[in-house]
Amino acid sequence: MDALTKEFIERKARGERLAVLTAYDYPTARLLDEAGADLLLVGDSLGMVMLGLPDTTGVTMNMMLHHAAAVRRAVKKARVIVDLPAHTYDLPDIALHNSKRLVAAGADAVKLEGGTSIAESVRAITAAGISHVGHIGMLPQSIKIEGAYRKKGRTDEEVARLLEDARVLENAGSCAIVLESVIPAVAEKISRAVKIPTISVGPSPGCDGEVLVIHDLLGSFPWFKPPFAKSRANLAQEITRAARSYIDEVKRPN
Ligand code: KIV
Repeated sequence: MDALTKEFIERKARGERLAVLTAYDYPTARLLDEAGADLLLVGDSLGMVMLGLPDTTGVTMNMMLHHAAAVRRAVKKARVIVDLPAHTYDLPDIALHNSKRLVAAGADAVKLEGGTSIAESVRAITAAGISHVGHIGMLPQSIKIEGAYRKKGRTDEEVARLLEDARVLENAGSCAIVLESVIPAVAEKISRAVKIPTISVGPSPGCDGEVLVIHDLLGSFPWFKPPFAKSRANLAQEITRAARSYIDEVKRPN
């Protein structure tokens, strides 16, 4: 078992919750680290909120490496988790090769989407001593197959599959599991079934931590905000106000 997995299991056993935020650039990562976030996730959501792509399926390894390195330069205390983008871990040896590249760029752990179906890739990563974070439930990298962002855990079959996925990931050596769009009662059941922490996307009190995309927290991406996300600032409004004030001043005749 790697050191991060051991630490996370102990923190869960102590009832400590993990506060997780996404970060993609140096100043934001530095501020969030200094504010005390436990984990910073360089998520492939950067394709949407930083680069204007319609979903995460067009994100590349080079994009992830570029942003991971910026976040690494900023962070002193938090653990840095970095997503492997879609189709960069289809086979175990490719998954391991790309995980090593992310670790070289500064990742403390890598995150892959999927459970049982990617267990071989996860085992290849953890056997090499690289920490792995799982991600089950709604899988944004599979949006073109799924067709829509839907809640998971609605049927007995789905619940059984989610529980199996979580157990398989734990046995494969994952240090934590992100649960996305999983019905709260099911998320709680999964959290009780494994020793490693579960991290819900948005609030889910039965989980061991919570992750939020930083733009949703700050209100800096007003064109789309998931219904569960609670903004605690309105940076879009502030940016527009400051920009208009500057533009007006520059254009004002002398
Ligand atoms: O890419 C991302 O930001 C994520 C989180 C929503 C968990 O995977």
